[in-house]
Amino acid sequence: MRIFSGIQPTGNIHIGNYSGAIKQWIDLQDKNECLFCVVDLHAITTPYDPETFQKMCMEKAIVYLAAGIDPEKAIIFLQSSVKEHSELCWLLNTVTPLGELYRMTQYKEKSQKHKENAGILNYPVLMAADILLYDTEVVPVGEDQKQHVELAKDIARRFNSYFGETFTVPKVQILKTGARVMSLSDPTKKMSKSDDEDSYISLFDSPEKIRKKISRAVTDTGKEIKYDKKNKPGISNLLSIYSIFSEKKIEEIEKEMKDKSYKDLKDDLASLLTEKLEPFRRKKEELSKREIYVQEILKKGAERARVMAEEKMEEVRKKVGLQNN
Ligand code: TYM
Repeated sequence: MRIFSGIQPTGNIHIGNYSGAIKQWIDLQDKNECLFCVVDLHAITTPYDPETFQKMCMEKAIVYLAAGIDPEKAIIFLQSSVKEHSELCWLLNTVTPLGELYRMTQYKEKSQKHKENAGILNYPVLMAADILLYDTEVVPVGEDQKQHVELAKDIARRFNSYFGETFTVPKVQILKTGARVMSLSDPTKKMSKSDDEDSYISLFDSPEKIRKKISRAVTDTGKEIKYDKKNKPGISNLLSIYSIFSEKKIEEIEKEMKDKSYKDLKDDLASLLTEKLEPFRRKKEELSKREIYVQEILKKGAERARVMAEEKMEEVRKKVGLQNN
């Protein structure tokens, strides 16, 4: 199957990004044709620093590799290095009703938080272009991107009905556990890289930081360690994170923790995260010294993606009545 997914380069990659997206990517890369993209064009729709932007993009490619994406198996590349993403985005804009963009949850959130611009509104159309350009069959993401992938499906169907069968209609793939990791400081909110540092665990946090952040994580009243999202959002979130990294079922963890305190749960979780994240940290340190190697991977990735994208765009231009030259 053809797989496409991406992460924005701004902010630190956290355990939510890992469990919602990267963990799936690692499982998928062995048996599928995967494209994993650093979506730099998406990131510039909200405030960012152009001076450090290139470095951040490069760092995210390092994160993919450090977390276990294998450049021999998957195509890793920067979105802006394949110009067809922008071109297709423009064409898809012409078949996307404005109303559908205004109802996107992330648009509503972002336009409240930042000064509104057309990029924030058209963000999901660029995402549809990313996906449809490669005839993607499966899009592995976290829960918060589901609505965007559904829109990409609608756009594909609409385009196909106007211009004839052109795009594969993709499927979204969301895991049962880990699709929505919540903030450590407010477990009723999604863990987000744009929130303050104490609210998330970065994939590369030091053992001291992990312990400190987990010990400060908001818990609930009562003493019982039980998964109950409505009445115990804090403990439920910690149990979910435990489940993701231990690969144990939540009921199993509840049983093990039956006579233990919230503090015990936090101590055990901090030790588990320290152990599981340590290899990522080590690999990242090592890769950070090999910039040319990483640049080469991105260059080769872009070359491979470009071949696919150019071929598809030729077909698309023909379908919409534009010239190919
Ligand atoms: P981004 O950069 O916000 O997030 C990257 C991936 O991480 C997932 N994620 C989470 N999963 C579980 N719990 C959380 N708290 C959590 N926070 C984030 C996201 O669902 C996502 O899978 N628009 C996308 C990037 C994108 C894309 C694409 C994805 C652009 N084009 C094409 C797939 C296909 C985004 O902003 O993700």
